[in-house]
Amino acid sequence: MIRLKTKIPGPKSLKIIKQLKKRNGGWSVSYPFVHAPGGEGACCEDIDGNRFLDFGSQIASNPLGYNHPGLLEVLRSYQGSTPVKFAGQDFVIREHLDMIEKLAGIAPKGLDSAFLINSGAEAVENAIKLCMRKRPGTKFGISVERAFHGRTLGALSLTNSSRAHKRGYMRFPMLRLPFGDRAVERLETILETEAYPEEIGFIILEHFQGEGGYRIPPEGMVKGLYKIAKNNKIPYISDEIQAGMGRTGKWWAFQHYGVVPDAFTSGKALQVAAVVANHKMFPYEKGAISSTWGGGHTIDLAMGMKTIEIIKKQKLLERNRRMGGYLLSGLKDIEGIQNQRGRGMMLAFDMPTRKRRDDVIIECARNGLLLLGCGTQGIRVIPPFVIEKEEIDEGLEVIRNAVKATSRKSFRHSGKIHDFIACGRSHA
Ligand SMILES: Cc1ncc(COP(=O)(O)O)c(C=O)c1O
Repeated sequence: MIRLKTKIPGPKSLKIIKQLKKRNGGWSVSYPFVHAPGGEGACCEDIDGNRFLDFGSQIASNPLGYNHPGLLEVLRSYQGSTPVKFAGQDFVIREHLDMIEKLAGIAPKGLDSAFLINSGAEAVENAIKLCMRKRPGTKFGISVERAFHGRTLGALSLTNSSRAHKRGYMRFPMLRLPFGDRAVERLETILETEAYPEEIGFIILEHFQGEGGYRIPPEGMVKGLYKIAKNNKIPYISDEIQAGMGRTGKWWAFQHYGVVPDAFTSGKALQVAAVVANHKMFPYEKGAISSTWGGGHTIDLAMGMKTIEIIKKQKLLERNRRMGGYLLSGLKDIEGIQNQRGRGMMLAFDMPTRKRRDDVIIECARNGLLLLGCGTQGIRVIPPFVIEKEEIDEGLEVIRNAVKATSRKSFRHSGKIHDFIACGRSHA
């Protein structure tokens, strides 16, 4: 339950955030508070003693919420042993194999191997590298309008959700498909007029578009693109970094369409990142793909494996579908919001304008509810999988009140919160 002891930001948090702003190399801080170790379930705490209800799950990377007993147990088991990170592609730890086996166990048959790496963007980098390696005549890749695949330079070339991510950075050649059924026609035209299939390195798709606007690709789009990819032997990649690991109510978002990609990426909720594919997809020339830490972070790997185990044991996929349905119907009852949508625990709604969207996020935060923006005027609703019904009701009430308050002509933000909160401008 939400408990606010100070205005947001509280004085202790504000001091640290101001200092960080002066020295941090990048600036994409979304929320003006500093986490404290406490909290449980869907609620986190800050160093000023405030307790927030989290409908953002650390940008979908915290599926089991705060202080889950199963994860605390993993942490305890690692006490006192260092290093916690091994140079995992060069020196072997047991957890490396265990995680690959765990991933293969929740992947479609045939996707039996994985390359483990540090971040989502690096997983994307490596997914496209293995496709390119298979097709040495490759001239460009294909992604979708408003896609987000990460910010390293290769991944950034595929990303297309905000110009702020791209200004000033070089990119490699990409062709873009419109989002929706028209994508299929565009790909057919590309193949008729612009490129031979062997010149296309890969098609990459989020089977639930995240940062770009929480949009669910229509069936015709996915099936049509998949069919063309298969017929022309173009590698087909699913980016599951935000939507995967059960958030949509299935382990992987592509499973809603009955397609099996040549490779898929996972990250965020997995606690490490991975490219999963058939063994034959990977380049086994020594050093062709590698990194110091990939496959070597003992605690992250153990946390990720435990996360998979808990999702299975506590039947959280089924729970996400059920509780997500409850949350979505609650959102549909709120007047003044639009386009309530989603699958499982991956939900969103729109406000009529970008400004109204930002106002609602800020007003909710001021009242202890954490939300994240997406697209031009969307708000993500992505609580941890363990959220309870009463917490859903509490969050819905905060949203309802914020929508009402911000719709008044006389509405003005009060306090410093407005100076620090980023709304839809910086997440992933
Ligand atoms: C779909 C998708 N792909 C890739 C990324 C990049 O992951 P990371 O931030 O871990 O580099 C993100 C999010 O950040 C994402 O949502």
